[in-house]
Amino acid sequence: MKRLRFVVTAGPTREHIDPVRFLSNPSTGKMGFAIARAAARRGHDVTLVAGPVSLKTPKGASRVDVVSAREMLAAVERALSSVSTKHQRRRRASTSAAGAQAPSTVFISTAAVADWRPAKCATRKLKKGQMSDTLKLVRNPDILKEIGRRRVGAMLVGFAAETDDVLAEARRKCREKGLEMIVANDVTEKGSGFGTDTNRVTFMKKDGTVERLPLMSKLAVATRIVREVERLSKVESFGT
Ligand code: PMT
Repeated sequence: MKRLRFVVTAGPTREHIDPVRFLSNPSTGKMGFAIARAAARRGHDVTLVAGPVSLKTPKGASRVDVVSAREMLAAVERALSSVSTKHQRRRRASTSAAGAQAPSTVFISTAAVADWRPAKCATRKLKKGQMSDTLKLVRNPDILKEIGRRRVGAMLVGFAAETDDVLAEARRKCREKGLEMIVANDVTEKGSGFGTDTNRVTFMKKDGTVERLPLMSKLAVATRIVREVERLSKVESFGT
């Protein structure tokens, strides 16, 4: 089996208002950590970029901890550029050696990245009297879209956490972010989405194929995703 290099984001981001207050969401990192675990178990190289979560690092994965969306983007860029450099070195080595196939890179964006952050972050705790009733927000980078725009040569897989028009929204995100595949996640379904140990998802591929999976453990969903990526990496060329 071809060995792939996975960069996986997991968990929420926190966007601080001051050192003790922040905007965030209920992601626990379980889905992303399960993908990192499944990929490492299957012998792939894994870098896990994790928001603030309390989970143990899966065996065999390297982990980078971040807090905010901007830190997550920087960590993903570093992970993908070191992957590209190593990848190029290996590719040169493999061409001169037995002609073996160089590994490809996959970016799986499972993290629930905050779309906005407060325009200002105070360095000291704000007193109630210093706070106004309205909070000015600014847009955070869309990490997945940004990486797609740069055409780093990696296969891109996203998730779509939705409450309405799940498949239509997921299809739109797949197209707009230039993804090979999106995993549609109806977070209103019982046993699915944030914080659960199970998930029920639908795979939607760039070529229009749709596969609805039954309710499974997050590790089983993760293994299905890793196998699908392995299959796609055989038929597509994502090398840098
Ligand atoms: O962590 P758990 O508790 O196990 O919960 C799992 C999960 C519900 C978080 C996960 O299964 C899931 O659905 N993750 C995607 C959450 C999300 O932010 O979806 P979205 O539809 O808003 O974003 C679409 C895609 O763009 C996602 O791949 C997301 O990682 C990415 N994105 C979004 C916004 C942003 N600023 N940057 C991004 O990269």
